[in-house]
Amino acid sequence: SIYTATTTAPVNIATLKYWGKRDKTLNLPTNSSISVTLSQDDLRTLTSVATSEKFNEDKLWLNGKEESLGSERTQNCLKDLRSLRKQLEDSDSNLPKISEFGLHIVSENNFPTAAGLASSAAGFSALVVAIAKLYKLPQSFSEISKIARKGSGSACRSLFGGYVAWEMGSEEDGSDSKAVEVAPVEHWSNIKAVILVVSADKKDTPSTSGMQTTVATSDLFQWRIKEVVPKRFEEMKKSIIEKNFPLFAELTMKDSNSFHATCLDSYPPIFYLNDTSKKIIKLVHAINDFYGETIAAYTFDAGPNAVIYYLEENESKLFSIIYKLFNKVEGWSSKYSSEQLGEFN
Ligand code: DP6
Repeated sequence: SIYTATTTAPVNIATLKYWGKRDKTLNLPTNSSISVTLSQDDLRTLTSVATSEKFNEDKLWLNGKEESLGSERTQNCLKDLRSLRKQLEDSDSNLPKISEFGLHIVSENNFPTAAGLASSAAGFSALVVAIAKLYKLPQSFSEISKIARKGSGSACRSLFGGYVAWEMGSEEDGSDSKAVEVAPVEHWSNIKAVILVVSADKKDTPSTSGMQTTVATSDLFQWRIKEVVPKRFEEMKKSIIEKNFPLFAELTMKDSNSFHATCLDSYPPIFYLNDTSKKIIKLVHAINDFYGETIAAYTFDAGPNAVIYYLEENESKLFSIIYKLFNKVEGWSSKYSSEQLGEFN
């Protein structure tokens, strides 16, 4: 017989950044983080898994191409999932002993991996959830998120939709370093995100090694994890609970800047933002100034692409200016007059 399961996991974009590990193998972070999970209809990984007594080894196909399953991270995830299944099988002799069979995993992103967007988060999240489903594991999502975390730290946050916190925990074995829901998407459903793809090039410093350099060399980083983030973590959760967009936006932008500042303070320095990224930062501040209210917030991960968070009702206010300035957008004609755009012309 053959057993199968399928799941999708969306990309999540951190508004309070995870940057730094206290344990490299377990992906235990030096600070707690917060993210917003994008909708399933946008950027997501779709993963199907199958297992059968006929499969004698594990195999993986990524976007149609067979890939090696050899990475230590993937192996750690599979090992944990198998041992949870084994526990179930040991406690109930009626259950088929599928933990011993090989796994065939087929995974597909609906966005170009090359776009430099966080594909590892959705990827590991979908992988772990699909196998947990296949194995009918009774554990909660927070519990399973600890396994996804070992694949890629940020992946633990993609198990939940909406507003998610990754609590850093303090245990050495990582048993309390897990994702928890701050609020479901329905709580604050009029927040939207747009991604401005500045460059589709592969990022120069991978986040895993970038973090190591920062932890080892940056003085500013010590200040960030001890003084800045713990306070910001509480404030940001509160801003989400209270649906306070101006505060949420300010904390998000400040945290992106703080993260990139610690990158610059690393030695040798790490640069993720390029000139276009910096123009976008200035533009968002100019837009907020222009309207006299906070209508947009930027955040940048380990690359130059911007994610802009905004409230749905402000969409035309935001896009009228973005389109006007980046008027290469094909087929677009402004329904906003030059008076409305004022000094941006
Ligand atoms: C800047 O989760 O990709 O996007 O745990 O080494 O796989 P590993 O790192 P990863 O790092 C993400 C860094 C970030 C910030 C964030 O998503 O919180």
